[in-house]
Amino acid sequence: MRNPSGTISIWSRAITATLLALILTLTRLSEACERHCQLNVSHAFADKYQILTSQHFSTLSTKIDQSLFHGVPATAYSSTEATNAIQHLQEAVTKAQYAWDVSLSRTVFDTIFTDEPKFKGDCNEPHRVDQPSLGVNWTMADCHAMDYICGNPPSICHFMPMIKTRIERKLADQLEIKIGGSSGLFRGGASENGRGSADEADVYANFLGPALSKVLMTHPKLEAYQATMHGNLNQILELVKEQIVAEAARLAPGAEPMKNEKWKPEWDLEIKLLLLSFP
Ligand SMILES: *[C@@H]1O[C@H](CO)[C@@H](O)[C@H](O)[C@H]1NC(C)=O
Ligand SMILES: *[C@@H]1O[C@H](CO)[C@@H](O)[C@H](O)[C@H]1NC(C)=O
Repeated sequence: MRNPSGTISIWSRAITATLLALILTLTRLSEACERHCQLNVSHAFADKYQILTSQHFSTLSTKIDQSLFHGVPATAYSSTEATNAIQHLQEAVTKAQYAWDVSLSRTVFDTIFTDEPKFKGDCNEPHRVDQPSLGVNWTMADCHAMDYICGNPPSICHFMPMIKTRIERKLADQLEIKIGGSSGLFRGGASENGRGSADEADVYANFLGPALSKVLMTHPKLEAYQATMHGNLNQILELVKEQIVAEAARLAPGAEPMKNEKWKPEWDLEIKLLLLSFP
């Protein structure tokens, strides 16, 4: 004779076992790089690119020191006046650099998580890596195995070289626009900004231009050389723009793959370990 309560207990045990298995499977499904991870990793990249792009602002500062007064007769200013004027413009460069630096991590974030193909979405179809248990990091083996673009940290780790190229292209493009007023870098040279000039660029319009105006206002004897000094600044900006373009040549689509010489190899490991620490 069948025992109804025995049947129920067999069924309930079977259901419990199935549920347990399901829960175990679910917890092993790989999880995404969530908001905190996304911000943290974007900051880490931005810190490095802040170091690398600072070179262009240093060049600006050095060239201002060397050639702001080219063509202005020495009778028009004292050496203290020249020093003060140069210092005032160099402070404007520092402000422009600061504005650039604070924009970096947003740019990096957008490049990885918003631009296509974005590092978002399901990493379980097909299955490549097991979600580590609580308190355990992802591994370099996970980084190696996660070979398609999706939202988990190992995928970002796997595609680091591609991600760096994407970020470097975008930054070069933005820098060229901010300093040179136009960018033809990765748009076949015919962008809507293609004919912009350095005078219209953010760095001149919002930082160097107003600083030069102030210098001219406080030194009436220099006013006659306004055009000369403005021309000097314009040349300096064009020169830095050329430096940015030359540096970005290796990033052009179809260019021979070439390493970014200034990117330190140990930075790759540093950022990978950071990524893998978000299980
Ligand atoms: C990432 O997060 C860790 C832990 O919260 C923190 O110590 C570190 O400074 C962060 N790194 C960056 C670059 O934000
Ligand atoms: C996870 O990775 C971070 C960063 O490399 C490290 O500091 C931490 O000790 C690791 N945690 C474990 C449990 O291995």
